[in-house]
Amino acid sequence: MSCRMKLATKWTLLATAMASTMPAQKVATIENPARLPTPPMGFNNWSRLMCDLNETLFVKTADAMASNGLLEAGYNRINLDDCWMNDQRTENGSLAWNTTKFPHGLPWLGQYVKSKGFNFGIYEDAGNLTCGGYPGSLGHEEIDAQTFASWGIDYLKLDGCHVDPRHGRTLQEEYKYLYGHWHDVLGKMERPLIFSESAPAYFSTTSNFTDWYTVMDWVPQYGELARHSVDILVYMGAGSAWDSIMTNYRFNTLVARYQRPGYYNDPDFLIPDHPGLTLDERRSHFALWASFSAPLLISAYIPDLPSEDVAYLTNEALIAVNQDSLAEQATLASRDSKVDILTRSLADGSRLVTVLNHGNETSEINIPLDVLGLSSHCTYQARDLWDGSEQTIKRRITVKLNTHATAVYKLSVSRECAAVIPTGIIFNTASGNCLTGNTSTVSFEPCQGGRSQIWQVDSSGVIGPLSERSQCLTTNGESVSLQACTGSHVQKWSYAISGNLRNLGADKCLTERETGGIGVCGFEANHQVFGLPGGVQLAVLNKY
Ligand code: GLA
Repeated sequence: MSCRMKLATKWTLLATAMASTMPAQKVATIENPARLPTPPMGFNNWSRLMCDLNETLFVKTADAMASNGLLEAGYNRINLDDCWMNDQRTENGSLAWNTTKFPHGLPWLGQYVKSKGFNFGIYEDAGNLTCGGYPGSLGHEEIDAQTFASWGIDYLKLDGCHVDPRHGRTLQEEYKYLYGHWHDVLGKMERPLIFSESAPAYFSTTSNFTDWYTVMDWVPQYGELARHSVDILVYMGAGSAWDSIMTNYRFNTLVARYQRPGYYNDPDFLIPDHPGLTLDERRSHFALWASFSAPLLISAYIPDLPSEDVAYLTNEALIAVNQDSLAEQATLASRDSKVDILTRSLADGSRLVTVLNHGNETSEINIPLDVLGLSSHCTYQARDLWDGSEQTIKRRITVKLNTHATAVYKLSVSRECAAVIPTGIIFNTASGNCLTGNTSTVSFEPCQGGRSQIWQVDSSGVIGPLSERSQCLTTNGESVSLQACTGSHVQKWSYAISGNLRNLGADKCLTERETGGIGVCGFEANHQVFGLPGGVQLAVLNKY
């Protein structure tokens, strides 16, 4: 037991700085998680076919998914994206489908997919127009919700193109107003639709993330999932599909603190038939999204999807991880220029380890057990979730990975070794820099994967690096440093939905800057928002 952990056992747990030593139990949720207890799985046409959608496509896709094993594996949603509607609303103000594209009509299509065992989803936009230029829902929210319900729709992706601030509101406030209004409208329905919110995506591309964080703070209160960042590369798009996957993957690592059962961060579609991807890259895409408990929405031409792609997309063990009832998002235990190591707990008490080689060469990776929050003195049984093979792990896991490949292991833990200490990098989610503790100094540096950048957060909010087992992150109110662990308030930190790490003694926040590292807590200030290892319970859920 480390010095830090000995101290922790003596202290009364602070309700405001709780970190679990057991697999994380999620904090009570704001909305009823039963509306969507696990992330959605299914099909959406957008990335693959964009506006080239019609009835035949959805019928053939549903038929293919019902026969090739995807439906049975859990992909039970057929979702339409943009361009399904007429250019104009009808005389009574309701939306109408394009009768050339959908000759039998959307109610008929809904019944068809439902008869096969799918749910049926649709796309609209919160503003004046959809991104494709079709009628938006602004001012028509009630009638559109009723229309969708009457067509048998049970899932709404609400995009955010063509939203302009009104009535003196800022743009961020206007989005909050519109998505909040939709939330109220949906909440009054007999059977509320699943609500996928695209609002954060419209704030993710500026260098100042304050508005983006602010939008992320409210989306979990209004809907079941949110598209937080840029679009994944469409089939005909210019550029590297792998780079696009990595961009969205990295965005997802910035927002782990928001996810809980009933609300999921959405890094956008799986694109398994994109011609620019190798098999290792396609498998990585799926394995990473599964490890995140992210929505698994496939955008591909499924009737022609090769069996090698269907095979990994239906990997039962990885789907079980994705659908795990804790819905914990895997977080970064370690990150360097070539390899990311992610970890999370699962409802059965086991620990997941996901290793991504994002470098350009084959790599052999050694992962000491303490990096995963586990005990170096225990033995664990590890199952490789790709092939089901088992191995016994003592002290470290070693894995050799092709470029852009991902390994996923499930480590079962015996009762006496069940304790998990939240462990991993602490990084500024705007700059990407890692909190680094060297001897007594603390700084923010590019993430290099060393033990001075891997931190344990114990159950009393005490934080220290793996490189210095008896040293703790400490502030004197003016600066932060590593000092011998004493358990005093100046060594205890709370973590909130805002991403702030607030020192209980000084009542100030960890701050990335050249000197000092502590400052008066601001509001979603770029230099004060951090990603922490999973399992650290949020002190204040739903602060805003
Ligand atoms: C935006 C969304 C995409 C898709 C298109 C449709 O770009 O982010 O996912 O819905 O609009 O026009």
